[in-house]
Amino acid sequence: MNRKELKIGLFGFGCVGKGLFELLQRTPQLNAKILKICVKDKNKKRLLPLQHYTYNADDVLNNKEINTIVELIDDSVAAFEIVKKAMENGKAVVSANKKMIAEHFNELLELQEKHQVPFLYEASCCASIPILRNLEEYYDNDFLSLIQGIVNGSTNYILTQIVEQNTSYQMALEQAQENGFAESDPMMDVCGFDAKYKLLILIAHAFGTVLKSDDILNVGIDQLTEMDFQFAKEKGLKIKLIAHAQKDEFDKITAFVMPTFIESKDKLYSIDNEFNAVKIVSGFSDTQFFIGKGAGSYPTSSAVISDISALTYNYKYEYKKLKLNECLQDDESIVLKIYLRCSLENSPFLIPNFIKVFESYSNTKLSYTIGLISLMKLKMILNQNRNQVSVVLFESLS
Ligand code: HSE
Repeated sequence: MNRKELKIGLFGFGCVGKGLFELLQRTPQLNAKILKICVKDKNKKRLLPLQHYTYNADDVLNNKEINTIVELIDDSVAAFEIVKKAMENGKAVVSANKKMIAEHFNELLELQEKHQVPFLYEASCCASIPILRNLEEYYDNDFLSLIQGIVNGSTNYILTQIVEQNTSYQMALEQAQENGFAESDPMMDVCGFDAKYKLLILIAHAFGTVLKSDDILNVGIDQLTEMDFQFAKEKGLKIKLIAHAQKDEFDKITAFVMPTFIESKDKLYSIDNEFNAVKIVSGFSDTQFFIGKGAGSYPTSSAVISDISALTYNYKYEYKKLKLNECLQDDESIVLKIYLRCSLENSPFLIPNFIKVFESYSNTKLSYTIGLISLMKLKMILNQNRNQVSVVLFESLS
């Protein structure tokens, strides 16, 4: 089969952009060449001779020779404008921008339909794990009921370093930034937004449902305290930031991102550092588990390379499972077993929100409670006390 020749206009030359440039040089069989790189900062020292770069997006987007745009910038607003214009100009697009994709999913679907151009984004979810194309193709006739996992490399790296190396949260975060795992605004990682955007994309491809960012609660790791790690250690548990999505027999979806206690018998227990893992439960194939590096230059570029390769064969997502209606489970009927840590003074106000309390403990300053609570009440507590409590889910959905 003849492979289509790709002439690429690349947006962004950071950690992933540079990785892509290097990997493309090592894969000449791909028949893909970068013609121009669009970057923002005129004063930055550049790796390549200056004629390879432009600072004007239109130089790339209006270049008739360029048939493929690879968008690897971190500004999701600018990224959407680039991707939109690229599709309007009939160019195939590859992107790794989970925030942009999650926030504009329906518009991006319309643009693909209207302009009949492929738009691929394997690198947006779990970097090196080939999850989207699997959900799209392999499971196209199987009924998926659960998708769950560690989908953010930075937080997994930070949590591992805190527990295994006794590193402080701040130091571990700086290391995640130095290693090129974290977003330019690391709050996206540690507050669970990055994991939520990935979960939204995974849900669209797994269940065919396009949800909005506000539909899904994201609790991060930024409020976890020594008390929480100590509790986990004493019980032989690890805390991992887990993205959860489950569909019941009435097609109602429950989804959230939350720190979760993981037991040692759980496969997620041994997934450490920047590794990601996704568990899928489906009607026919039962439980499957995907593991791979979820952040970093080469792991992310490898997924971009795979999309580029797929484009040379004219591959595009067909969104065969896509349904028009949202079908979220009602928050009041979702009951979760959680650990809630708060200040001693705050505890008498928060505990009455629990349906049932199994255990409570207080020292002179802090208190924790383990019990059952509805997702609705948990959201209410977090809305009012986001920076004063830590929440860890006690049992994973399964
Ligand atoms: N900041 C992201 C992470 C990068 O840590 O997972 C990969 O999407």
